[in-house]
Amino acid sequence: MLENLQQQPSDKILDLMQIFIEDTRENKLDLGIGVYKNELGKTPIMESVKKAEKILWLKEETKAYTKLAGDLSYLKAMKGLILADSVDDNRVSAAHTPGGTGAIRQGFELIRIASPKAKIWVSNPTWPNHISILNFLNMNHGEYIYFDKNTCDLDFDGMISSLDRAKPGDIVLLHGCCHNPTGANLNQKQWQELVDFLNKKQLLPFIDIAYQGFGNGLIDDAYGVRLLAEQCDEIILAASCSKNFGIYRERTGIIFTISKDEKCKKLSQGTLAFLNRQNFSFPPDHGGKLVSLILNDEHLKKSWIDELEGMRLNMLEIRKMLVKELQILSGSHRFDFLGKHRGMFSLIGASKEQVIEIRKRHAIYMIEDSRINIASLNKNTVATLANAIIDVGV
Ligand code: LMR
Repeated sequence: MLENLQQQPSDKILDLMQIFIEDTRENKLDLGIGVYKNELGKTPIMESVKKAEKILWLKEETKAYTKLAGDLSYLKAMKGLILADSVDDNRVSAAHTPGGTGAIRQGFELIRIASPKAKIWVSNPTWPNHISILNFLNMNHGEYIYFDKNTCDLDFDGMISSLDRAKPGDIVLLHGCCHNPTGANLNQKQWQELVDFLNKKQLLPFIDIAYQGFGNGLIDDAYGVRLLAEQCDEIILAASCSKNFGIYRERTGIIFTISKDEKCKKLSQGTLAFLNRQNFSFPPDHGGKLVSLILNDEHLKKSWIDELEGMRLNMLEIRKMLVKELQILSGSHRFDFLGKHRGMFSLIGASKEQVIEIRKRHAIYMIEDSRINIASLNKNTVATLANAIIDVGV
């Protein structure tokens, strides 16, 4: 039987991680996978997380199963963090999932049950795993324009005009903040225009928010999500704690649905729990416990916010340094867009050939589409990258 298996398509981001490991050059630089690194190139455990782990170790008395949809205090704390009071609890359902990817997968499966013919519109470009999972589930999907390659900025008019082709009941997958891979985001006025457009066209938003706190701060980064929650009848929302709590391998995510009434909320809650049971049964608990301990304790929460803010400001500083370095080397302002982008990622606008050339000549690894991870750079490596970008003629 096993001989019938075929080679599965590989993931570009994970492939690059492997090629990087195999490179023996000492000065190599990994700007691939989205992991935050400090100036020493390490991804340390946040202090607030370490403290929460200690508390958990002392207090936890059992490893018996929790609830199928996850621990209630985690679900409640995450609702507060992302949605605040933008929507009544009696319309919100939630389930703890293994990571943000688990939440995306559950969200797609819920759509497949509720509306199997609906088309799911994803931004061009988007996180490659969105498309990979949609293909795997054999779900109908299409692309909407998002990024203008000439300005390296959001193409909002293109976005709206391509979504005009969507039919009532279709789903629009949006990045809540810090768009991956482009780094280009909607401003508040554009969010409102988008919400009005979605409501007029009867399109259902599915928001993926994996970087809250990495862009303009915890509250600003939730602006679009909260606006949608306030003004739309139904939304689906997938979130990740991997980056903002730095608990990548703990696989801590959450899927929310907002329903139009309490009856639909109950059906959604039941379906989310059912999907958990079918796919993996109970969600992993450790990461969720850390998150709820932190968010429910004033001191831990403050310490976490401070640490997160430190990471965000560091990324902004790196962006500024990179822009400045590129201004000097190129004698132009053509890379200023990097200072406007937000989050871990930016598409720098290099061709695939240039990306490969940078890898060959300078041992700098970025994704083929020219996505760089800003959070992997530091004061010393910014100049190295800027030199490499100019050297290959970007
Ligand atoms: C990324 O885009 O690099 C991250 O979301 C990590 C991943 O799983 O791909």
